[in-house]
Amino acid sequence: MEKKGFVYLVGAGPGDPELLTIKALNIIKSADVILYDKLVGDDIVKFLKAMGKEIVYAGKSSHEKGGARQEEINNLMKHYAKMGKIVVRLKGGDPFVFGRGCIEAEFLKKEGIDFEIIPGVSSINAVPTNAGIPLTHPEISSSVLVVTGRDNVLRWKNALDHSTIVILMGKDRIEQICKKLIELGKNPETPVAVIENGTLESQKTIFGSLSTISGKIAKADVKGPALIVVGDVVRFAKNLMDRKV
Ligand SMILES: C[S@@+](CC[C@H](N)C(=O)[O-])C[C@H]1O[C@@H](n2cnc3c(N)ncnc32)[C@H](O)[C@@H]1O
Repeated sequence: MEKKGFVYLVGAGPGDPELLTIKALNIIKSADVILYDKLVGDDIVKFLKAMGKEIVYAGKSSHEKGGARQEEINNLMKHYAKMGKIVVRLKGGDPFVFGRGCIEAEFLKKEGIDFEIIPGVSSINAVPTNAGIPLTHPEISSSVLVVTGRDNVLRWKNALDHSTIVILMGKDRIEQICKKLIELGKNPETPVAVIENGTLESQKTIFGSLSTISGKIAKADVKGPALIVVGDVVRFAKNLMDRKV
């Protein structure tokens, strides 16, 4: 009988290989081929190579337009699944958080390919925690607003008061974002942290306020993935992580 292929859409976590879940690791061990995203990170890719796995780059840079490249990635999953292979589609963080995991799952469903979605540790919480920033605090912040920096900042206005704001994909627009938040009534002194390469050896945190952070970012050559945290909880980082920041 023909061997039936299977696709696992797996979250790889924020980059540190030790933040892969046990479930993800077990599935990776059973895979015939791994299609990995740009955000998966060099340390995990090295680890996969050391395991002797067949690995294929299936990433998309932020400048590439979604459609065409996504179609190629979908077709790669289909190609290997139709060969009867166990495919791991490995994505940074959690596959359903700003990761097009949902689009890929819908594609597999439509094609009649069996699949399972494996949650991952998202950068949303792992990166701030690893930098010593608690997203909530009993006296300071009781909610968290998670947004993409490509959003229109005006859409956040009803959630600004007591929220910590976590912004993904926002480093290139940080100046406009901070300006808009001040216009919407946020105190210009509100602390901001930009965490680059969170959870990796090369993790770097740049601190400032809504009024100063964009100048600091312009000077600090931030090339890796970066997550922005806005809110008073940022003040904790210096105390909690004084050896790391
Ligand atoms: C397309 S989103 C994918 C998010 C991912 N699915 C998750 O759950 O973390 C990519 C953005 O996540 C953030 N990000 C992911 N990993 C990161 C890391 N290790 N350090 C800092 N930011 C990270 C950055 O803002 C990056 O531009």
